[in-house]
Amino acid sequence: MSALGSIEPETGSGARTTTSVPTTADGVALWKIATASRALDVNSRYAYVLWCRDFAATSIVARLDDRVVGFVTGYLRPERPDTLFVWQVAVDEAARGRRAAATMLDDLVARVGVPYLETTVTDDNAASLAMFSGLAERTGAPMERTALFGPAELGAEHDPEFLYRIGPMHLNDRR
Ligand SMILES: CC(C)(COP(=O)(O)OP(=O)(O)OC[C@H]1O[C@@H](n2cnc3c(N)ncnc32)[C@H](O)[C@@H]1OP(=O)(O)O)[C@@H](O)C(=O)NCCC(=O)NCCS
Repeated sequence: MSALGSIEPETGSGARTTTSVPTTADGVALWKIATASRALDVNSRYAYVLWCRDFAATSIVARLDDRVVGFVTGYLRPERPDTLFVWQVAVDEAARGRRAAATMLDDLVARVGVPYLETTVTDDNAASLAMFSGLAERTGAPMERTALFGPAELGAEHDPEFLYRIGPMHLNDRR
């Protein structure tokens, strides 16, 4: 487990926030945080538990003391193993704004150690865009935006998902 040096602690709480590799016991917390976010496409509880078993090496959780307060789920693209695809990021509402998401991304990128990261963002998600732009800036990497999935794939009710590709990231030269 690594301490999140850059997370701002709650004043006077004495609480300690750390990041770690998820375990299957964390799956239910991921599902609850995703559901409560009201911003993510929520998958089944089973999917999060399974993810924590099979993709733990490319995912991360943040804990405040023992409680999971955030997560990033990701995988290495089978056709491009130099690319970490970040599937979902969420932080419990009460823990937002204290760099939990930024620190999870930094710790995950450092742990996985590949130079490229991809994710998709809908145009209405300013927080998500700011979060990934910040990662590109800290790793000195360009970020490209292209259309990925629209109504043909996702249906008319779903906003189009734009692909953001960040890299090459300079992992040992954080700005
Ligand atoms: C997006 C989310 C994970 C950010 O979590 P967080 O821990 O509050 O974010 P951080 O404090 O680490 O901030 C990271 C960056 O995003 C920016 N940011 C965070 N929330 C923001 C908001 N609501 N509007 C604009 N920028 C925002 C911060 O200023 C920071 O930018 P910087 O690195 O340039 O300084 C959180 O708001 C969330 O869970 N949202 C719902 C789920 C979601 O939309 N996930 C993303 C799509 S997968």
